[in-house]
Amino acid sequence: MKQIFVINGSPRPAGNTSFLLKSFIDGTEKNNAKVNLIDSHHINLKYCNGCLRCNLIKRCSISDDEWPELSKKILDSDVLVFASPVYFHHLTAPVKKILDRFRSFVKVQITEQSLDHIPWQEWDKDFVLLLSMGSSSDEDAKPVIDLFKYMTKILGPKNRLHVITATRLGVIKQISMKKEELRILYKKLELPEEFAEEDNFKNNRILEDCFQLGEKLSAI
Ligand SMILES: Cc1cc2nc3c(=O)[nH]c(=O)nc-3n(C[C@H](O)[C@H](O)[C@H](O)COP(=O)(O)O)c2cc1C
Repeated sequence: MKQIFVINGSPRPAGNTSFLLKSFIDGTEKNNAKVNLIDSHHINLKYCNGCLRCNLIKRCSISDDEWPELSKKILDSDVLVFASPVYFHHLTAPVKKILDRFRSFVKVQITEQSLDHIPWQEWDKDFVLLLSMGSSSDEDAKPVIDLFKYMTKILGPKNRLHVITATRLGVIKQISMKKEELRILYKKLELPEEFAEEDNFKNNRILEDCFQLGEKLSAI
């Protein structure tokens, strides 16, 4: 049975990110995968304090928060899903807080040319990035995607990254709106109303892509 660990980075419970996530999780259902979902805004997690002791003790030195159980679930997972709105071309702050704690998964060595990262254990996982954003272009997600290409690579050459981006989504539930609702919304937002039809088609396709990715990655 596949172990799937999912991190929701949106502060809005009915936000577009939660629809991407729901479709992904729905896709996993028929394969009976074990899905663990956490809401990054409501976990008890401290910031990395930069002590660098992880380079010596091979784990994070902060243990009076949820990291010990969280890190175990992350390490035990076959599929690791990060779903987040794009905030100023980046992930939301609670997700970044989790990512900084990933420092404890690797030994970092300064070299003459750059910085080497050596993971404490072998990583062979599917990483999934589900990104919702307001812009009509997914260029705004590029820094996040670049970061994940880097992160997945330093954690191990066997890791695989899957990315789904959803654009032109400003208000809650927008991705699930019908054509007519979108037309009314676009009028208010001073966007061309004729975009409603193609966006409705695009939004449904993105949700279907999330479902299919969930189905594919949860299969044994
Ligand atoms: C603080 C803040 C910063 C944002 N920055 C960006 C941005 O840089 N690029 C972008 O396309 N959308 C940006 N957005 C819009 C959100 O990414 C977008 O509305 C997203 O769909 C929200 O996801 P949610 O519905 O799950 O909350 C920003 C929104 C907020 C609140």
